[in-house]
Amino acid sequence: MVLAISSLEAEATVRLPFLVDLKGLPSDHVLVVEATLSPPFLVDLKGLPSDHVLATDYKMAATAAATSFIGSVAPYGAQARPGSKSKPFGIRNYSPNYLPRSFSGLKAATSVSCESDSSFLGNESYAALRDSFAPRAEKRNQKFENHLQPRASSFKVAVLGAAGGIGQPLSLLIKMSPLVSALHLYDIANVKGVAADLSHCNTPSQVLDFTGASELANSLKGVDVVVIPAGVPRKPGMTRDDLFNINASIVKNLIEAVADNCPDAFIHIVSNPVNSTVPIAAEILKQKGVYDPKKLFGVTTLDVVRANTFVAQKKNLKLIDVDVPVVGGHAGITILPLLSKTKPSVSFTDEEVEELTVRIQNAGTEVVEAKAGAGSATLSMAYAAARFVESSLRALDGDADVYECSYIQSELIELPFFASRIKLGKKGVEAVISADLQGLTDYEAKALEALKPELKASIEKGMAFAQKQPVAA
Ligand SMILES: NC(=O)c1ccc[n+]([C@@H]2O[C@H](COP(=O)([O-])OP(=O)(O)OC[C@H]3O[C@@H](n4cnc5c(N)ncnc54)[C@H](O)[C@@H]3O)[C@@H](O)[C@H]2O)c1
Repeated sequence: MVLAISSLEAEATVRLPFLVDLKGLPSDHVLVVEATLSPPFLVDLKGLPSDHVLATDYKMAATAAATSFIGSVAPYGAQARPGSKSKPFGIRNYSPNYLPRSFSGLKAATSVSCESDSSFLGNESYAALRDSFAPRAEKRNQKFENHLQPRASSFKVAVLGAAGGIGQPLSLLIKMSPLVSALHLYDIANVKGVAADLSHCNTPSQVLDFTGASELANSLKGVDVVVIPAGVPRKPGMTRDDLFNINASIVKNLIEAVADNCPDAFIHIVSNPVNSTVPIAAEILKQKGVYDPKKLFGVTTLDVVRANTFVAQKKNLKLIDVDVPVVGGHAGITILPLLSKTKPSVSFTDEEVEELTVRIQNAGTEVVEAKAGAGSATLSMAYAAARFVESSLRALDGDADVYECSYIQSELIELPFFASRIKLGKKGVEAVISADLQGLTDYEAKALEALKPELKASIEKGMAFAQKQPVAA
């Protein structure tokens, strides 16, 4: 018998921070759990009846990637504008072949899995776990044993700006992914200590440090995903655009190196102002002749994470169930949560829509002010960026059902860059979800029109900056 976590909850406890208590399960069950966990990964397997066959598949949070929703997709490159016909797609389903290698998110925790060959647990934990099974389950254990060996994970990830407020916790979260074989940490500040520290975690990936411009190229060789949180954060009273003068050059230089050393990598831009730094990166990659718009992403996951959290709190919903698409850009009013598209379907009063929208748009400022000069969101940002990395790795790993919101080159509206829900595949953006922009409420339609001038100006500012300072071929 296979139990889904959702039905398991009556018998076992699944609670934040993701403590999965499997005690008291009926002993005639063969339990196969796909527990999708977010750090800290705390799995309590004590007291599990000895005739159980247990296989676990621990995964990092990637909520949207695991969302069940019905909508429509437009193939990337031939995107449907709102109102145009697009192909319907159904509720997500794991392919049985994919399951053992999947690393899905919180919501995927509700899905039923087959036996897994991957886990965040290290060898020692595996051994202890294995030994705890009684001999009468030996036959099954043999199978279990095979599955408990950490599989050879295969992706290299580089974090540029790894010594920073976001970079450090982000690197820790990436270090916990079983899909990562090598983690390259680069910073202009000394990153040796961070790497030494992280390298003691008994998770599969090897951690390498690269400090200073002379080591940048090596940090990028053979890398599959590059995440860029390098740059200065906001202080109270600053807008993201105030960071432009410093961060534009940082992103430009780093992207030049990416173009030269790992032009096929997925590129995740965290550095603000994302509305401009992504167009800068696109221009630089174009000048270098290696631009693939399907692989360049502005990380807007934090807006989705915040929207999900605030909506769940407001409407007293189970956080794990909530999914709010956030479109537009990543600054002030350009952040547009589409509350009418919230899953599960929920109704809001006009006051709630106004209050939630404004809070989601200003959530970054909430943190900046609370930190009172010590920077902007780092921990929630690291969590969100790690989720986006994990989703990208899952897509690269062959999961055919990965969805996230991201700020990308887009034809969804008249602006050349726009954040929306996308489907990720092995080659990057596989489709843009146009359905989210259909049937908007009056409030959302007005907000969409209102954000366009600011987003357009930010895009043009970024492009003009990159065009004024052409790169060496
Ligand atoms: N996309 C988002 O949702 C989001 C959210 C929060 C913050 N941010 C942005 O992320 C960026 C980083 O924020 P933080 O709080 O980690 O800042 P931080 O100052 O704590 O860390 C930045 C790191 O970048 C490094 N750095 C600077 N120039 C570099 C270069 N040329 N090459 C490599 N590394 C370099 C610094 O040495 C530092 O370690 C900021 O621009 C911030 O605005 C984005």
